[in-house]
Amino acid sequence: MGKFYITTPLYYVNASPHIGHSYTNIAADCLARYMRQKVGAENVWLLTGTDEHGQKMQKAAEEAKLSPQEFTDKMVLQFKKLWEGLDISYNDFIRTTEERHISCVQRALTVLYKNGDIYLDKYEGWYCTPCETFWAEAQIQGENCPDCQRPLEKVSEKNYFFKLSKYQDWLGKYIEGNADFIRPETRRREVSGFLKSNKLSDLCISRPKERLSWGIPLPFSPGHVTYVWFDALLNYISAVGTFNKNDEYESKWWPGVHIIGKDILRQHAIYWPIMLKALNIRPPAAIFAHGWWLIEQSKMSKSRGNVVSPKAMVDKFGLDAYRYFLLRDVPFGQDGNFSEEAIIKRFNSDLANDLGNLLYRTLTMIEKYFQGNVPEKGEIEYNKQGKDIEEKIKLLPEEIADYLHPGSNFNFSSCLEKIWALINMANKFVEDSKPWNLAKEKKIDELKGFIHLLVEVVRAVSELISPFMPHTAMAIDRQIGKDRINKGRPLFPRIDRK
Ligand code: MSP
Repeated sequence: MGKFYITTPLYYVNASPHIGHSYTNIAADCLARYMRQKVGAENVWLLTGTDEHGQKMQKAAEEAKLSPQEFTDKMVLQFKKLWEGLDISYNDFIRTTEERHISCVQRALTVLYKNGDIYLDKYEGWYCTPCETFWAEAQIQGENCPDCQRPLEKVSEKNYFFKLSKYQDWLGKYIEGNADFIRPETRRREVSGFLKSNKLSDLCISRPKERLSWGIPLPFSPGHVTYVWFDALLNYISAVGTFNKNDEYESKWWPGVHIIGKDILRQHAIYWPIMLKALNIRPPAAIFAHGWWLIEQSKMSKSRGNVVSPKAMVDKFGLDAYRYFLLRDVPFGQDGNFSEEAIIKRFNSDLANDLGNLLYRTLTMIEKYFQGNVPEKGEIEYNKQGKDIEEKIKLLPEEIADYLHPGSNFNFSSCLEKIWALINMANKFVEDSKPWNLAKEKKIDELKGFIHLLVEVVRAVSELISPFMPHTAMAIDRQIGKDRINKGRPLFPRIDRK
């Protein structure tokens, strides 16, 4: 399987992070933790960070009465603190205002300019500041942004353009020839269809300094700064490599798997591979676009006042319950509806009733029948139900690998469903085996074998859920020790809806 480089988007720091941002990072973290189990920590690199240039940041800084640098220095702390709170196991955090990034962007621009892939032209059109996106006359109706519906600004200025159009055929063919390059399949079809029915225009990659000063200066035109998307995408290489004297890019980790939201598919699936192609760097290993979390079917936004804070959810339900909900409730790639009601439902059924109950009753029986000593299996032969459980424990890691291997659909939800199937088999086994009768009838060998199997289930579950719910896995391992138990409070006490 080799090396595994996984990235998250770089988040804009003009506002506080919300559950949508936390979703991408939790998913990427889960995948990274899973891959570390598989190929060793030294072969996995998880990158996250912040996108700090552009008009949006300049405006937000002005409103906060701070310089852009002071403003971003302050805002970035909110992201770092949140990732710490969510236990995101990133290996590196990159800010686009760091020197290592700025020098890489300038080197890339120099190479592209020297090769004739960047040219100067007059730009006339419409600009959406909140989306940091240009729109051609033909793409809009009225004077609002087709994406976010907010008012557009008319601009007319001399700017530098990157020859996207020159590489359109190459990209179309590349996507055709590499079925798992853009995932899931619906997103691949979307990009492929777009390329077939539209002619790409070249991308305006500069802003005149008079209009925007907060950006990376173009090395060949000090009067311009770099368009924020052109700057930000390059983080995926600036964080893990450099250009050598011959303008060749060298990196231990590249190419990476980009986990993104579907809202930024076009930039990642069209601009970015073309930028790399023009720089003579390999395309990303994959681009995976997940869906959106909606609140009562609509988008979260400051103006609607429905933005949910991840910290508030963690404070209320606990970190692992929050992670579990996000990863379990919706198949990765699809949209979902976020509500506290839905979290409580999952919490009470899957966590309190299924997992919590299995652990608690196993510990209680070990305490009651074996004075806290974990019993050996002994000579006993299991019945059909017991044998099925043993078989399932053996098969599960393979089933999960099918859902999470590097070319898969990263179906976290199905993984958890499979793990819970084992938990439920074990709970059913308890009910059907009636261990209290075995104890009464002094069938001690059978009781030992029976409880031993439950312990095996709990240990397997702990290992399998650890990428999803690292704290729960640790708590389970603490409570069911190697030989002795260490029973604590129930991990997931039921939430009373009232
Ligand atoms: N700065 C750009 C990305 C540059 S990457 C080189 C950007 N930043 S962002 O702060 O707006 O965050 C974007 C990402 O946050 C989305 O792609 C998605 O991963 C996540 N989400 C933001 N809102 C979301 C939801 N409501 N639901 C799920 N994820 C969403 O775009």
